Amino acid sequence: MNQIKVFAPATVANVSCGYDAMGFALETLGDEMIFTKTDTKAVVISKIEGADLPFETDKNVAGVVAKLMLKESNANFGLNIQIFKNFKPGSGLGSSAASASGTAFAVNQLLGNMYSNLELTKFAMQGEIAACGSAIADNVAAAIYGGFILVRSYEPLDIVSIPTPTNLVATILHPQIEIKTEDARKVVPKQIAINTAVAQWANVGGLISGLHSNDFDLIGRSLVDLVAEPNRKQLIPLFDDVKNATLTAGALGAGISGSGPSIFALSKNLETAKKVEAAMNTQYKNSGVAYSTYVSHISKTGTRIL
Ligand code: HSE
Repeated sequence: MNQIKVFAPATVANVSCGYDAMGFALETLGDEMIFTKTDTKAVVISKIEGADLPFETDKNVAGVVAKLMLKESNANFGLNIQIFKNFKPGSGLGSSAASASGTAFAVNQLLGNMYSNLELTKFAMQGEIAACGSAIADNVAAAIYGGFILVRSYEPLDIVSIPTPTNLVATILHPQIEIKTEDARKVVPKQIAINTAVAQWANVGGLISGLHSNDFDLIGRSLVDLVAEPNRKQLIPLFDDVKNATLTAGALGAGISGSGPSIFALSKNLETAKKVEAAMNTQYKNSGVAYSTYVSHISKTGTRIL
């Protein structure tokens, strides 16, 4: 194989209660990337459409991950990379994770599938360090594994795939202001009270159990975040109004997607997810903030060949 085109999904990290520990991949929103083998052993990014990102391979997560993988595997080829971004960096939808995961997945294909999903996640996490300074796994693991994932442990890295109810649909509101993950991480407290911790890990257990048993009410009751959301929501215009409107429209629950500013809601069918989208539109249309909305099923495959 000399060339591969992949779809790298947008992802929702944290899923309210699972700060840095949970995420899921979207079915229909994501980037496209084309990787072509070259003889020169160098990595070149020749095209970036849809976002203003650096072409220098040391500053672009795709370049960082590709160079690392070619070096680690002693590959006898170089790469030409083309990136077509369909959602913006700084959206809270895992833009850097999509580039990093798409690269890890595609380079592995060109190498003849020598790495496991866990190893690909570790490579992609190096891209996250380049993007925001932290080796976070929730977005990249969701993008690589697909569906819902749990980062059970960072040291050693342990990723658990969680079953995804087929009917579950996500609605996303992306206010077009940029929040840098690095900045959003600074407002999350370094320490929390034990009663807050108890409530938070109880909700993670509830969410995992609800996803296993298709118990939509339990999923909804568990979409509560007492750690990041209370501190981050001030960064997002009309957050409480949007969240309340989505719940009134029938969403199971809603919260901040990753480090924001995007807001996600989960619904038990497409019809409700579209009503939730209409409710988000009603809240934002006169806000003066440009925005986009998306409705998508959860991607069970994650990054895939096109
Ligand atoms: N878990 C991360 C955060 C996701 O909330 O900061 C952003 O990459």
